[in-house]
Amino acid sequence: MTVDHSILVGEAYADNSRLADRISIYAWQQPRIDIVDLALRRLGTVNGPVLDVGWGTGSYTNRLRATRPELRVVPVDLSAGMGPEVVGEVDRLPFADGSAGAALAMHMLYLATEPRTALRELRRVLRPGGRLLASTNGRVASRELADLWDTALRDLGVVDPPPYPNPGRRFLLEGGVELVREVFGACEVDEYHSEIVVPDATPVVAYVNSCRAEQARHLPDGVTWASYLAAVEGGIRAEVARTGAFRLTGHVGVIAATS
Ligand SMILES: C[S@@+](CC[C@H](N)C(=O)[O-])C[C@H]1O[C@@H](n2cnc3c(N)ncnc32)[C@H](O)[C@@H]1O
Repeated sequence: MTVDHSILVGEAYADNSRLADRISIYAWQQPRIDIVDLALRRLGTVNGPVLDVGWGTGSYTNRLRATRPELRVVPVDLSAGMGPEVVGEVDRLPFADGSAGAALAMHMLYLATEPRTALRELRRVLRPGGRLLASTNGRVASRELADLWDTALRDLGVVDPPPYPNPGRRFLLEGGVELVREVFGACEVDEYHSEIVVPDATPVVAYVNSCRAEQARHLPDGVTWASYLAAVEGGIRAEVARTGAFRLTGHVGVIAATS
């Protein structure tokens, strides 16, 4: 699956509303994992500037600015609509060689044009001894969404549904760790497992709908996003009625490396 910058900038990340719908579901995470705090502990005694590449809704920048006000933190994003300080893409960072003390690439390397190129680019902008933090999901994370896709399409009469279009597969924890090791020589990995137990269908439907920009074009001919979403919603509501909640598997990893 390739990524299309015009879709990312024009719809998926035109503003932070769709990302916020996905993040909001973690209110029901069990056990609650403060991934921002856990990841930032891996920075160590870094000096600025810290580049937060693909800063999204600013979770990491905001926490760093609150806890380490002496650090200069620079939010960077492909999409101007996300309101970064610097508009730039991870594959071609607009920073000089060796100019950063740390670089964060949190849940975003799977959106790079080429994750290996992006990692080399992150290494280029780090000064010797600079820290890289990258986060991403494991293969089993949210696998229930793939089941929903398959079941909904079969309910709509599709005999052989196409594979679930998940851009996250472009940089999973499995494989991503090896790639970081290849570019940086060594890395440390922390993994966290959880379950997201949502007692109401509405936030899960909003989560699925937030993926429209990347997924609608993969629907088979004749299936509209509206019909797909209605079928998915039926499945989620049935599950909540039957078991009291819709459950999503959580598996996230933080990869840390030194340049
Ligand atoms: C899934 S969000 C992650 C946000 C945040 N880092 C977090 O972990 O909560 C991905 C972010 O990366 C940005 N992005 C996507 N492709 C990018 C690229 N090639 N270079 C830089 N930023 C990119 C998106 O606009 C979005 O803000």
